[in-house]
This record gives sequence, C-alpha cells and structure tokens, in this order.
Amino acid sequence: MSLRITVIGTGYLGATHAACMAELGFEVLGLDTDPKKVEQLSAGILPFHEPGLPELLKKHTTTGRLRFTTSYEEAGAWGDVHFIAVGTPQKAGDHAADMTYVDNATTALAANITKNALIVGKSTVPVGTARRLQELVKSVAKTSVNVELLWNPEFLREGFAVHDTLTPDRLVVGGGTVEAVATLRRVYASALSLDTPFITTDLETAELVKVAANAFLATKISFINAFAEVTEHAGGDIRVLADAIGLDKRIGRRFLNAGVGFGGGCLPKDIRALQARVSELGLDRTMRFLSEVDEINLRRRERVVHLATEILGELDGRTIAVLGVAFKPNSDDVRDSPALDVAAQLYNAGADVSIYDPEAMNNARARFPRLNYADSMDDALRGSHLTILLTEWEEFTSLVPQQLEALVESNSIIDGRNVLDPQTWTERGWRFESLGRRSESVLISSSQ
Ligand code: UGA
Repeated sequence: MSLRITVIGTGYLGATHAACMAELGFEVLGLDTDPKKVEQLSAGILPFHEPGLPELLKKHTTTGRLRFTTSYEEAGAWGDVHFIAVGTPQKAGDHAADMTYVDNATTALAANITKNALIVGKSTVPVGTARRLQELVKSVAKTSVNVELLWNPEFLREGFAVHDTLTPDRLVVGGGTVEAVATLRRVYASALSLDTPFITTDLETAELVKVAANAFLATKISFINAFAEVTEHAGGDIRVLADAIGLDKRIGRRFLNAGVGFGGGCLPKDIRALQARVSELGLDRTMRFLSEVDEINLRRRERVVHLATEILGELDGRTIAVLGVAFKPNSDDVRDSPALDVAAQLYNAGADVSIYDPEAMNNARARFPRLNYADSMDDALRGSHLTILLTEWEEFTSLVPQQLEALVESNSIIDGRNVLDPQTWTERGWRFESLGRRSESVLISSSQ
C-alpha cells in the first residue's frame, strides 16, 4: 500500500518537502497553522521564491495528490509518515533556538494520531531534542496506537531546494526500529536507487550531523573572510588565495568566496544555537570559536560601511545604490541578510539608500520600510554617488561600467561579493573597491 505522507510546517523546508514527496508519487497532506498560507498553497500559489517549486506545487495541487490543511485531527487520522518541518528561529534576546514551534507541532500531532505511524523530525534542533520529544510523544499519544519518532535532518539549500530534496548528497536517519527505518527507505526509494548514501545512526548523531555541517560551512566562510581582513591590510588578493588553497582537494574551493559574509535563516542562528546548547552541556569553551566565526562575519558588514565612508568622505546626504538585498541569489529571503543589514547601516548613518533586488523587495520592505525601494535597477542607480553590489544575482555579476555611466552621478563601486572584474572597471576610470583586495593589489594582479 502506498504511504501517506504529511508535512507539518509549510515554510521553505516544509513546502519544498511536501511538493517533492508528491513529485515522487506519494499522496501528501501539508499542514500549517496559518490559514492564509494554507489557502494560498491550496490554490497552487507559493508565498516565497524558490526556483522550480511553483511548477511542482501547481502540478500536484491540480492532480489532488498534494493538499493542505490547518487540521491536526485530519493529519493525525490520515498520515502514515509525518514529517516535522517547522522553524527553530533564534530566541529573542538569546542565542538559543526557540523550540516552541517544534514542541507545539509534535504535541498537537501526536495527540491526534489514530493509527500506527512514524513522526520524522526534519527541523534543525539542539542535540537532545529528539530524545525529549520521544518522551513527549509517549505521554500524549493514544495508548491504542504505536507512534515512533526518528530524526532525519534536511540539508537543502535555498535556491536549489527542489534539486537537493529530490537528489540529496546523503540521507541521515537517527533512531527508529528496523521496520521504521525500512519505511523511510521506501519514502526515499528514488534517491536510494541512485546510490545516495543512507546513514543510519542514533538520534543525537543525526541531530549533530546537521548543526556540524552548518557550523563547518560558516567556519569555512569566516576563515576566508578573516584572510580577507589580512590582505586588506598586508596587501594580496583574496580571490587568488582562495583559488590556490582550494586546489588542495583536502580543502576544496567551495564556500571560500570572500565577501560580505553569510546570512539567511540557517547558518547564523545555527552557530549561535549550537554554542548555547553546548554551554548548557557544561562545555563553555568547546564551541567558543564559533563566536569568532560570527564576529568575523559581522565585521565584513562594517567593512563595507567603512569603505563607503572612505569613498564618499561622509555618508550624510549622499546617495547610494544598493544592488541586492536577498541573503544570497536565487532567493527572496532577507532573514539576517548581510546586504539588507549594510543597507540599513548606511541609512542609519544618514545616506540616502536606493535598493534594487530582483526578488527580495517585498520582504525587505516589510522589514525596513524606510529605505528607498527602486522599481528597477536603473532607477536605483540614477543619480547615485556610489554603487554597492551585495548579492550576486546574475544581472549584477554581468554588469559592465558602460551600463551604469549614463545613470550614476559618480563612478565609484564596491563589489561586496568579489564577482566583478576589477580591471574592466578601473580601466574605465572607476574607483573600484572590493573585500579582501586593496585597490593597489587589484591593479597589480589585474595587470599581470
Ligand atoms: C544552508 C546550508 O548550506 C544547507 O545545507 C542547509 O540545509 C541550510 O543552510 C539549512 O540549514 O536549512 P542556505 O541557508 O540556503 O543553506 O544558504 P547557503 O547556500 O549555505 O549560503 C549561506 C550564506 O553564506 C549566504 O549568505 C551566502 O551568500 C554565504 N556564502 C556562501 C558566502 O559568503 N561565501 C561562500 O563561499 C558561500
């Protein structure tokens, strides 16, 4: 018999998982407590930007294989495998993760399950959560049913969410009886047929694999950004340095792009939550290096503001075009976005900031309504004394000086992502600044 799958929480993670499970042939019910979201998704409308996902959502809501509800009663009576995909944001005023959504979702679901079923956690959680939730499930589930809890962390990247869900690098499953793990193998049969590694382990390892992966990625980015600070002072070109060390297969070139740093709904809050959890375990020093990782990351934002001040003399009353506010390209997500943070810092320092982003304007406006949101890239650039590229959307990385010259007031640009060719700009007489490359070293390395 085909498995019926429910997905609790329909944000970036849950909506993607639900639509992809439908694409794999399962009947799927997505649950969200927000009736507006459920209404939109049921109508085949995706409330955020994720390439490839609108098509899947439309396709499967049309066939009826993918439905959405606000009712735990319905989900608990219907599903065989329930995925928990709610958020674990940073707590206000604290580094720890806010577990309210996970706890509430698990409690409500478990209390409403009326047939034998699996609860499979996907959310990123502090180690020890799954074991605590097992007890919670035991205490609220009906005694007439057998409900097992497993942990199966998700590694999808925004912008590639569909690809990563359908063809993941690896699958990790913590806990569960042999039968429960066999059921998850049925869920992931398509990926397993492609020889995707399937790692079975205990609950704690599964939880930790996820946070360890994100902590490693954040560390890798801050590592190269720390060297960017060095080359800014000592001379040198951070891109050449990254290319050269990246050729060592043990190091690898990916996630060594120096720039304005990492943001988003995952890396920043995950390294903070990990430190908080490990401190709770009495290991105050163990993850202390992640505070440095965080600080290096935040200093990159200050560096852009510093460069802008250096170029303009003063920010007050100066017009700055900011290209990109999403935390990365192919996403409309502005959570902890370095770009939006820099734009806000410039604004707070008195600059007249004009922003353009192909997808993230509405989300940015909702967060910082007082910034200027231009209707087009040209509008953002018109009359600006300085242009700052902060998210590497393709339409920005392919920019050439001639495109801007008729619009801007001054030929000055900061490349906050190290994606433009310095020589092209400096040869046209532009003042070109970037992170991790002093203007002189840029000139030297460009002329070689
Ligand atoms: C991250 C992880 O990469 C996923 O594996 C994980 O599943 C996800 O978090 C999660 O926990 O849900 P995501 O937040 O989509 O995915 O973004 P990344 O692609 O990891 O980029 C994070 C940030 O690092 C972006 O702001 C990006 O601009 C920045 N970055 C990335 C750099 O500054 N330099 C690089 O070389 C790479």
